[in-house]
Amino acid sequence: MTTLGTPLSPSATRVMLLGSGELGKEVLIALQRLGVETIAVDRYPNAPGQQVAHHARTITMSDPAQLKALIEAEKPMLVVPEIEAIATPMLEELEAAGVVRVIPTARAARLTMDREGIRRLAAETLGLPTSPYKFCDSLDELQAAIDGKDGPAIGYPCVVKPVMSSSGKGQSKIDGPQDVRKAWDYAMAGGRVSHGRVIVEGFIDFDYEITLLTVRAKGERGEVECTFCEPIGHRQVSGDYVESWQPHPMAPAALAKAQEIARAVTADLGGQGLFGVELFVKGEQVWFSEVSPRPHDTGMVTMATQWQNEFELHARAILGLPVDTSLKSPGASAVIYGGVDAQGIVFDGVAEALRIAGCDIRLFGKPESFERRRMGVALVHAKDIDTARHLAREAAAAVKPRAAS
Ligand SMILES: Nc1ncnc2c1ncn2[C@@H]1O[C@H](COP(=O)(O)OP(=O)(O)OP(=O)(O)O)[C@@H](O)[C@H]1O
Ligand SMILES: [Mg+2]
Repeated sequence: MTTLGTPLSPSATRVMLLGSGELGKEVLIALQRLGVETIAVDRYPNAPGQQVAHHARTITMSDPAQLKALIEAEKPMLVVPEIEAIATPMLEELEAAGVVRVIPTARAARLTMDREGIRRLAAETLGLPTSPYKFCDSLDELQAAIDGKDGPAIGYPCVVKPVMSSSGKGQSKIDGPQDVRKAWDYAMAGGRVSHGRVIVEGFIDFDYEITLLTVRAKGERGEVECTFCEPIGHRQVSGDYVESWQPHPMAPAALAKAQEIARAVTADLGGQGLFGVELFVKGEQVWFSEVSPRPHDTGMVTMATQWQNEFELHARAILGLPVDTSLKSPGASAVIYGGVDAQGIVFDGVAEALRIAGCDIRLFGKPESFERRRMGVALVHAKDIDTARHLAREAAAAVKPRAAS
């Protein structure tokens, strides 16, 4: 039985979000609706989620001492990582000492914070199909991996990514020998931490890629059960998502394989919560790419398409409540970029966007805009995904951010 308390009273159910961007903000709103007391943590003040939480704290989450001090002071019942750049070994220590429960587990947060942990688990421990890959610590090692100096050749084309990076940062495709040095230098400049390790992956010529939102939540008998949302299709530009739609049509055999992979990887990571499993599909062949042990950016579309969106599903699952992953309507999302580098920008055209049939808008409230920073998203439900995609792109284009005069 799950018992929830009253916020700001001794009975409160306290939950701490580590990372309070646009995804964390929606998780916080879902928790607020259940009367959970929320603590929104980020590296800068007035982050989107901090604007809707009971408490806002600003620390460097990759600093183990700061993280430990905050968790010990706030004593949350649950710690919910929203980003990857967290001192996860400290979370493991605190979890092992029984100080706190980490969502889904501290080990999952550690394994998915860098590409090596999760790739080795998926490919080597679980035997799931992935692109061929190799980890390299220098330009020479990268060239040797591509050429197959010691082991099977990765070959051309291939993709190079810093082991610690997200949203396509430092990532590039190599089409031939002339691109190798450029890709290495780009990865070195784009990684999250300054140690020069990369993964090089064989390029998968997929027909399409999906995010399979997978929920581990308690069923009627109290055991954790695995359920799936309808597959989400998406389009990436420079490793960053620009639009997504649901449900993406799939051959039954491909869907079955995708679910089998998602079930295996989330079962190993364990715990309760929602995961975003990224997969590449070609015909009936399916490859595992990566997994987020938390709501996924491409899953923002579920705010228009599901009875319970991915944030509500995460909130319910982590609290031990039942979930419903069913689809309400086909729909699509399209990202609204900042377009300018400025503080405190304004948005024209919101009314025009909202006049589009079936359209809704989220503006995240980020204090500072960059040209390619995600500042909002357009959400559309429609009779089919093609219509929804078209209207979502139209709505996103109607919203025009600019510097305040
Ligand atoms: N081996 C590959 N073959 C073909 N395309 C790839 C490969 N690896 C990555 N991509 C493309 O680049 C995109 C981003 O890659 P990946 O998800 O690994 O990076 P990321 O930085 O973690 O992105 P995000 O944080 O947005 O999920 C993928 O969604 C896919 O479109
Ligand atoms: Mg990805």
